[in-house]
Amino acid sequence: MECSKAKKIVIAIDGFSSCGKSTFAKAIAARLGYIFIDTGAMYRAVTLYALEHGAIEAGTVDEERVAALLDEISIAFRFNPERGASDIYVNGTCVEGRIRSIEVSSCVSRVSSIRPVREKLVAMQQAMGRDRGVVMDGRDIGTVVFPDAELKIFMTADPAVRARRRYDELHAKGEEVSLAQIEENVRSRDRADMTRAISPLRQADDAIVLDNSRMSVEEQMEWFRERFDRIAGTC
Ligand code: DC
Repeated sequence: MECSKAKKIVIAIDGFSSCGKSTFAKAIAARLGYIFIDTGAMYRAVTLYALEHGAIEAGTVDEERVAALLDEISIAFRFNPERGASDIYVNGTCVEGRIRSIEVSSCVSRVSSIRPVREKLVAMQQAMGRDRGVVMDGRDIGTVVFPDAELKIFMTADPAVRARRRYDELHAKGEEVSLAQIEENVRSRDRADMTRAISPLRQADDAIVLDNSRMSVEEQMEWFRERFDRIAGTC
């Protein structure tokens, strides 16, 4: 296979929650001039729609009703120059500002374990990456969505470090939560992601591990540059 730095590839980034996957993926995409796709935002957008259309009530997810709504949900990303990133739209309405609420966060892992939801979103993600030149982050990108991705990165960090980062973020926003509460939430989401029946989070056999527990964003970018140069020079 002919490959050079000019040839666009697929970069799959999977890993645990609160590892800084999106920050890392966004920076890589900007550097390479690639499209960045945050697949977690797509699962969150379906969850928001389900909440607003009666398929989730009092925290209970009605899987059949969620599945029945799928045909009426159209998802798109549009670049927002003010943010320097893409916003997510559902049926033409921007929902970027609403998909990270506590309400959505507390139901999204259940919605993302519904088979028809995964089938629809995986097919959309594959279509988005058909022309290569994408950096996609999620949980199953290197294993299910693009098992043929030229570069697969599996991100991880010590749960205590991830909890601390999340704690600092939430406190900066004025939210009152304890570090112990957050650490328990990080660990329980790790368990849920790794043990679900369909497409559980797991490291692809050919993925390279990036443990960023003690790395700055600049150090992670340097780490990436070395791997990318090696891959682009050999594939
Ligand atoms: O990356 P995030 O925390 O925004 O993802 C939200 C949820 O969606 C999370 O519970 C895991 C799930 N998800 C998934 O199952 N598969 C993906 N490719 C991306 C996210």
